[in-house]
Amino acid sequence: MSVIISSDKITIETKNTLYVIKMLEGVLPIHLYYGKKINEDQLPDINKTRSFSPYFKIDNKEYSFDNLKQEFSFYGYGDFRATALRVLDLSSGSDITNYAFKEARSFLGRKELSGLPYSEGECETLELVYEDSVTESELHLYYTVFYDTDVISRYFSLKNNGNKELKILKAMSLSLDLPNGNYDLISLRGEYAHERTAHRDPIYGGNHRIMSRRGASSHHFNPFFMVTDRNADEESGDAYAFNFVYSGSFLDEIELGQDGLRIMTGLGDECFSYLLKSGESFNSPEAVMTYSENGIGQASRNMHSFVRETILPKSNNKKRPIVLNSWEAVYFNINQKVMLDFAEEAAKVGIDTFVMDDGWFGARRNDNAGLGDWTPTPEIFPDGLGAFVEKVHSKGINFGIWIEPEMVNPDSNLYRAHPEWVLRDEKREPLRSRHQLVLDMANPQVVEYIKESLDKCFDGIDINYFKWDMNRNISNAISPYLPIERKGETQFRYMLGVYELFGWFKKRFPDAMLENCSGGGGRYDLGMMKYSTQIWTSDNTEAKYRVYIQHGSSYGYPMSTMSCHVSNCHGQCEDERMLDYCFKVAVNGPLGYEFNILKVDQSVKDAISKQIEEYRAYEELILNGDFYRLKNPTVDRCYAYYIANADKSEILLSYLQNNADPDETEHILKISYASPDLNYRNTLTNERFSGSALKDGITVKADASERYGLMWHFVAE
Ligand code: DGJ
Repeated sequence: MSVIISSDKITIETKNTLYVIKMLEGVLPIHLYYGKKINEDQLPDINKTRSFSPYFKIDNKEYSFDNLKQEFSFYGYGDFRATALRVLDLSSGSDITNYAFKEARSFLGRKELSGLPYSEGECETLELVYEDSVTESELHLYYTVFYDTDVISRYFSLKNNGNKELKILKAMSLSLDLPNGNYDLISLRGEYAHERTAHRDPIYGGNHRIMSRRGASSHHFNPFFMVTDRNADEESGDAYAFNFVYSGSFLDEIELGQDGLRIMTGLGDECFSYLLKSGESFNSPEAVMTYSENGIGQASRNMHSFVRETILPKSNNKKRPIVLNSWEAVYFNINQKVMLDFAEEAAKVGIDTFVMDDGWFGARRNDNAGLGDWTPTPEIFPDGLGAFVEKVHSKGINFGIWIEPEMVNPDSNLYRAHPEWVLRDEKREPLRSRHQLVLDMANPQVVEYIKESLDKCFDGIDINYFKWDMNRNISNAISPYLPIERKGETQFRYMLGVYELFGWFKKRFPDAMLENCSGGGGRYDLGMMKYSTQIWTSDNTEAKYRVYIQHGSSYGYPMSTMSCHVSNCHGQCEDERMLDYCFKVAVNGPLGYEFNILKVDQSVKDAISKQIEEYRAYEELILNGDFYRLKNPTVDRCYAYYIANADKSEILLSYLQNNADPDETEHILKISYASPDLNYRNTLTNERFSGSALKDGITVKADASERYGLMWHFVAE
């Protein structure tokens, strides 16, 4: 059992962590501890009242909500820190609540989060029930425990049991109070084409918000973050990691104050409000956390295992397609003959899936028109899409196709027929981005329409892979469909509509692999990963930039999610060394290619065939191995990492150097996970190494010229 409830204490245990809640006066759950396993006598005490603090009860001056570490904090009732839940009573105008604890229970498994993506697997759940007598609402806090991966997930549900109308003004799914200390924050920040660069900053006193208001988890701020001890490194020290199973606007809030650090993650208070009428309930999306006493690397690996085992579709572990994607080769200039030639050449070099990207439907000859009209363009496909796909298959290759179902171009039949189906405040012109508007996914009629058109378009056609794109952020986020009092729910209900569509799509096309994309990694999050086996990591395919993006992503996400293509962006693959470097960068995830295969000479094709063979030899490690970061490209002059399998019999080591290093710096790459009892052979050179030698490290001399990559594939003999 992971959850033990007694009259004065609740403990949650995972394989390596302990979470303790103490019942203050037997009635109020107070967070006491989250970290490595310790004994009862090492647990800290509950904080006592401070000057100026309102007392916890009229007859008890000893404690105050001001510094008690409640499991969840409520607005307006003596806890002056950032709040987890703010509920407005519309009948009185008061936004003060004080949820009193009623009971604690536990059960095997978990509750479904209807309409939302959530983690699934072997688990146990703790449920704390609270009630606020004035608003007559009942709050349930859920802690779902994934023992083996050291992950605990949190979410809440709120039910209006009374007759008043309530409005949720702030909703955080997870709230955790840590003691005072010197902490660092690792967050994944960036911009379009430079998403998820890892930044490590000291946490100073005050309130710090990492958030997206873009209606997408965004290229700019990812919901994943870590809080670490100031001295923690890859292999030692306390590291707490957090993430949110959601793809829309979010808030991660970190506040360092008089008695410690409050950490929260959830929907927040800016892009979200929710009306709760009498009898109605609301479920928050799930947030997850893990802890490691063995540093940042282990916290990442906990998250990787958790994502692989409980989030990603079950097909995750299967061999992945190696695609040739048409985008960077021809952009919108789709033409049947060229597509078939691509498919034929791709098959010859050993690529197994040809993907036809944007530009194949309606009036879509550029990004001005056609989005929303999911019918193949008759001039391109006079015999229909089905006949074309059969021809592709006859070349001995699988077929994939691009879609962007949530969007519409004003120049489209769909928009002309239904201008009321886009997000907009009716009194203002909606802003366009990439000449497109956002469909009102909060309107079930719109969702049903998209289902029907995709169903009709692809019915009976053997499509092996879909790339689902989303190419703008959401401004003018008002649903014309929702009643006035629910307009504030637009962004949340938009996401529910998107998840409904994704759920339907997965059932309708169960055999096709779904790759997610939002102009690259604009929705690189656990919500999307619930449906998508892998995500297009970034639109930036230049290897020297990918190094940073892939390194940053690795803090929270396993390599198996990072779709990586070798592309000839800016002519980067035009010489042998560069082609090799691009490949070495791309084997940080499922491999693909993206260039005009009709324009390369045989020597490049031969090199690609060799790369594919090599990738297949490492694929199992890439998809399921344990990932160890060795060098950080933002602080070191190179990026280095290794991936190892569970019994330590196979290890893939990678060294990537973007820039010339005239000092020819020596780097020692220590494979501390190697077994001292095994002897290894590097299959690429046939050199032999003892396990201890690998533990001591491979010495690499940096190269004086740029784009220098090395790989070692060690197999135990
Ligand atoms: C953005 C994607 O990230 C690209 O790979 C490509 O699919 C384009 N959209 C197509 O419009």
